[in-house]
Amino acid sequence: MKSSSSLQKRLGLGLTLGMTLLWLGATVGAWLVVQHELNEAFDSALEETAQRILPLAVLEISNREEPREAQHVATLKMHNEYLTYLVRDASGKILMQSHDANPKIFSKRPTEGFSTSQKYRLYGASALRQTLFIEIAEPLGHRREAAREALFALLLPLFLLIPVSLLGTWLFVRFSLRSVLAYRRAIEARGVGDLSPIKVARLPAEIDPVAEAVNHLLERLRNALEAERSFTANSAHELRTPLASTLAQIQRLHHEAPEGPLRVRAQKIENALRELSRLSEKLMQLAKAEGGGLLSETPQDLIPLLAHGVDEWNQHSGQRIVLQLPSQASVYSTIDPDAFGILLRNLIENALKYGATDQPVQVSLTEQAQLRVVNSGPVVPESVLEHLTERFVRGHSEISGSGLGLAIAKTIVQGVNARMKLLSPATGRQDGFEVCVWLPLAPS
Ligand SMILES: Nc1ncnc2c1ncn2[C@@H]1O[C@H](COP(=O)(O)OP(=O)(O)O)[C@@H](O)[C@H]1O
Ligand SMILES: [Mg+2]
Repeated sequence: MKSSSSLQKRLGLGLTLGMTLLWLGATVGAWLVVQHELNEAFDSALEETAQRILPLAVLEISNREEPREAQHVATLKMHNEYLTYLVRDASGKILMQSHDANPKIFSKRPTEGFSTSQKYRLYGASALRQTLFIEIAEPLGHRREAAREALFALLLPLFLLIPVSLLGTWLFVRFSLRSVLAYRRAIEARGVGDLSPIKVARLPAEIDPVAEAVNHLLERLRNALEAERSFTANSAHELRTPLASTLAQIQRLHHEAPEGPLRVRAQKIENALRELSRLSEKLMQLAKAEGGGLLSETPQDLIPLLAHGVDEWNQHSGQRIVLQLPSQASVYSTIDPDAFGILLRNLIENALKYGATDQPVQVSLTEQAQLRVVNSGPVVPESVLEHLTERFVRGHSEISGSGLGLAIAKTIVQGVNARMKLLSPATGRQDGFEVCVWLPLAPS
C-alpha cells in the first residue's frame, strides 16, 4: 500500500509554493513598471539640465574675446561629477566642458536627442541654428543601482512570507482538522466488542458522510453479529430440555436393560448425550461472552467470588485446588461477576482435567487483580500453545472436550479490555501449564 501523505504537509507546501510564484510574478511586473518610470524621470532630468546649461554656455562663449578657445569650467569646490557635459561646434571642436568630462565617451560629431552607449546615457541639444551643441552624459550604473534596489525591496518580504505561510497553513490546517483527529481518537479508544455508533461533533463537510457511512456499517455489523449470537444462544437453550429428557430416558433404559451388550450400548449413548449437553452449555457461555455486558456498573470484589468458585470445585474434586489470596481485604474489579464466574470455571475445569491428577492446582489472585491458574503436567510446545485459544482447537485427543473453553476465556478477557497469557512450563517450574489473566482494576 502506498503510504498516505499528510494533508497538512501538502497544503502547506502547495499554498506556499503558489504564493511564492504569484509574488515573484507580481514582483517582475512591478519591477518592469518601476524601471520604465525611473528611466523616464532620469531622462527628463537629463533633458532639463541640458536645456538649462545651453543658454548660459551660448552667452558665455559669445562674450569671449577668443570664442573658439576651449575652456574648462572651473568648479567652486572639487567634487566628482555625476553629470558631465561638452559644448562643441558642428565640426566637433570642443568649446567648453565640465571639469570632469571625458571627451572619449561622447561620439565624434555632436548629435541631438537621446542615445545610449555601453556605459552612458547621452542627450544632445543645439542652439544658434545648429552651430553650437551641448551634450550631457550620465553614467548608466546609477540607474541600474536604483533598479536593483527597487527589485531588492520588492523581493525582501518574500523571505519573511515563506516561513510565515508555511507555519500559518500548518497551524490553520491542524486547527481545522481537530475534529477529524478527535474522530480518530474516538475510534482508537474503543474496546474490541464496541460496535456502537461513533459520535463526534462538527466534522468537516467532506468527512461527515464518511463518518455516517462508518456508523451505518457498524450498525449492519452489529445486527449481523447479534443475529448470529442470539441464534447460538437460542439453539443451545432449545436443546437443553430435549437433551435432558432423552438423557433421563437413556438412564432408565440403562438400569432396566439386562447385563450384556444392550446395557453397554445404552451406556455409550448416555456418555454421548452428556458430551452433547456439555457442548451446548459451552455454546451458551460463548454466546454470553460475545454478547457484551461483560463490565459491571459497580465494581465487584473478586475475593469472595473467587473463594466461592474454588470452594464449589473443591467439593467435587476432592480438595485438589489450593487458593492463594492477597493479604489485602478486597480487590475491586470492573468485570461482571457472571463473566468472571464463566472465566474461572473454564480455567479451573481445564487445570483439573489436564493437570497431573496427583498434584494440586494452584489458583492465586494478586492485589493488582492478576489471576493465575497453575497445574502440573507435561509441557505443551509453543507451537501448540499459541493456537489453543482458537475455537474448536484442542491439544489432548484422549480426554474428551469441545475445544471452546480457552476460546470463551479469551473472548471474556478481550471484552473487558484485559490481557491473558498462556505459559508452559509454568513460571519458575520445569513442567506444567499456567494461565495468567490481568483483570481490569476498578478505579479507586
Ligand atoms: N490447564 C491446562 N493444562 C494443559 N493443557 C491445557 C490446559 N488448558 C487447556 N489445555 C489444552 O488446551 C486445549 C484447549 O482447551 P479448551 O479450549 O478448554 O478446550 P477443551 O478443554 O474442550 O479441549 C485442550 O485440549 C488442552 O490440550
Ligand atoms: Mg476446556
